This record gives sequence, C-alpha cells and structure tokens, in this order.
Amino acid sequence: MTTSVNRTIRERVQRIETMPAIPAVFLPLLRLLNNSVDEVKLDEVVRLISYDGAIAAQCLRVAGSPLFGMAQPPKSIKGAVISLGLRRVETILLTCCLGQAFPAKKWALDPAVFWRHSLGCAMVCRKFSEKLAAADHEKAYMAGLLHDIGFMVNCLAFPKEFAMAMERACQEEVPLHEAEHSTMGFTHCETGRVLAEKWKLADDIIAVIAHHHGVGQSQKSQPLVALVHLSDLLCRTRGLGYGYYERRMVDLIADPAWAILLQEHRDLEGVDLVRFTFELDEAVGEIHALVSTVFGLAPATART
Ligand SMILES: [Fe+2]
Ligand SMILES: [Fe+2]
Repeated sequence: MTTSVNRTIRERVQRIETMPAIPAVFLPLLRLLNNSVDEVKLDEVVRLISYDGAIAAQCLRVAGSPLFGMAQPPKSIKGAVISLGLRRVETILLTCCLGQAFPAKKWALDPAVFWRHSLGCAMVCRKFSEKLAAADHEKAYMAGLLHDIGFMVNCLAFPKEFAMAMERACQEEVPLHEAEHSTMGFTHCETGRVLAEKWKLADDIIAVIAHHHGVGQSQKSQPLVALVHLSDLLCRTRGLGYGYYERRMVDLIADPAWAILLQEHRDLEGVDLVRFTFELDEAVGEIHALVSTVFGLAPATART
C-alpha cells in the first residue's frame, strides 16, 4: 500500500469520526471494555448506559430475548448485569451501539448481511473458544464482532470504489478481500485497522482486524487472530457470508491458521470438527434471530 493511499484512508476515516450517528455512549464504552473485568466497575457501566435511553431500551430487549434463556426479562440494566454477567452485558451493549452507529441504508454490502456475518462470526468465535480450555471466550466474541469493521469504513468512506469491488467479487465468485485488493489496491483490513487505532481499541483486537485474512503476518496475538480467521471461514461456508456465492474449497485442518492455533491450544486436537459444524448449523437460526432482535430486521433467506 502506498503512502498516498494510506493518507487518503486516514483522511476519510477522520470524516467518519465526525458523523453524528455514533451514539455518545459508544467510545467511552469501548474504553471501558479495554479494562480487565475486575477493573470495570459495574456502576460505571450502568451509569454510562442510562445516559442513552434508546441504547438502554434495546439492551434490555436483547437481554430479555429467549436467546439468553432468562426466566424473567430484566427490568433494569443493573438487573441485566446481575443476571447475565458483566461481560455478557458488555457484548450486548457493544452490539447495540454498533447497530445504531451505522444504521441501515443503501450500502454496497447490505447492512443486514454485514451484521449477520459479524454477529455470526462473534458467536462462532465464542463457541469455538469454548472448546479450548485456556481461551478467553468473551474476548473471542468481541474479536469476531469487530473483525470486519473495515467493511463499514469502505461503505461509508469509499462507496464507489467498494461497490466496484463488491460487483467483481459477485461476478467472479472470489473472496471479497481479494476483489478489494485487485480493484482498490487495499482491503477492509487496512481501513478497519485505521479506524480501530483511532478508536484506541485493544492491541489484540487491532491485530485481528488487520490480519484475519493473513494470520502469519500478525506480530501479536496470533492464536486469537487464527481463531477468528477459522471462524470467519466457517461462517462463509454455513450461510453467514457476504450475501453471494464464493467458489472455494475450505479445509480448516489444512489451513495454516489451524497449526498456529494448535501450538497455543493443544486441546484443539480433540475437537470433533464434523460434530462442531453440526452444532453451528443449529446455531445459525439463533444468529438470524439475534440479528432481527438487535437491528429490527426481517429474517433473511439463507445465503452464502
Ligand atoms: Fe474480513
Ligand atoms: Fe469476515
């Protein structure tokens, strides 16, 4: 990527930052999420959320949905935190904030498809990490949720260029990041990284955003980047892709990311992949329901 392309990306990301749609609560919440769970004060999260009635209401709606299996829907944010746990509520809040920050409109990449993929990947990341004793499941969820944030940057800051990349990907049935690279000279990984650095996200999340399509290039947090890479592939083969057919064979065990993850988590060897993909198929309906609950979207037909 040339210096002038890099400068253009930074300038256009700067303009996104000033868009009025981002809820006031969003950036302070991200800063709070960067702290470890012990440091995060429950009251601080509750106070932050109560500033924004729309976010608070949406959070309660999601927390009370059957997806979280609560006998009684929570009546307050504090009640939701106590029942579901702080990390769970934080991820719900993050999901709601992101949904509001970039509301549905005509994008080159359908927002419903984008959110379904992001939430799908978040849930697959968590389910995958639950198979690995030493993994941080909520961190995995957050990494999955944010990994493709660069697509939002491209839709908002490079609409014409990205529309051409999207068209090429659909016509040639190739992965979207390859079409971006051949059409624009850069991908959502680079634009996402610029936004993530601007928002001061945690280093391991930035590594995921920047390298989930090239795990070997990541200097940091390679096991987490590898986990997201594999989950992303799984989603794209289970009807949670980018809304078009990708012509490709996927062999997770032969993927270099598998070996990287295995180095850190020896218990990966015992994961029954066939069984795991069956479990994921069962979860796909859950993911469609969650997207509809969070973003008020009609359930979509299953597309790759
Ligand atoms: Fe991606
Ligand atoms: Fe992805």
